[in-house]
Amino acid sequence: MSDDEGGEEYLFKIVIIGDSAVGKSNLLTRYARNEFNPNSKATIGVEFQTQSMVIDGKEVKAQIWDTAGQERFRAVTSAYYRGAVGALVVYDITRSSTFENIGRWLDELNIAKMLIGNKCDLESIRAVSVEEGKGLAESHGLFFMETSALDSTNVKTAFEMVIREIY
Ligand code: GTP
Ligand code: MG
Repeated sequence: MSDDEGGEEYLFKIVIIGDSAVGKSNLLTRYARNEFNPNSKATIGVEFQTQSMVIDGKEVKAQIWDTAGQERFRAVTSAYYRGAVGALVVYDITRSSTFENIGRWLDELNIAKMLIGNKCDLESIRAVSVEEGKGLAESHGLFFMETSALDSTNVKTAFEMVIREIY
């Protein structure tokens, strides 16, 4: 947390984790820049963006770290969890394997988390039901939301819920 401008500024570190290609990078670019890339490449290592919001009249800055989901980067990315106070743990509603792996991601860090079922625009090829998502979130005491980086559904709401939760 930084406090260099008259005590009115807060800085939080948030991480986005989950299997490769669930849409972590696109959730972040949709939130931070209102952009979506249909051909985005797998993230190598980590990248971050800083995003501000106002809560109770105070400026709150979130430094949001987008990590690589690919197994081969795991050792590198886990080093970046240090200092994080919130996490979005993301799966792809069209790929059950990404949902089944959520438990592994949850074990990686012990902070305020939100479970995200991304790509909810792909209803026709859904493989994980809303009930399954809700059920898993409840059993781990997590918030839950389905999002779409493509059509923007719940993206802002999801990030802001995590930020509010830790603020
Ligand atoms: P890694 O960096 O390898 O961990 O992957 P990632 O989780 O960052 O996935 P990324 O954001 O690169 O998205 C993977 C693919 O899914 C890309 O082709 C995106 O365009 C697509 N995608 C991401 N979000 C959505 C979504 O909400 N809906 C749909 N239909 N496609 C999406
Ligand atoms: Mg990525």
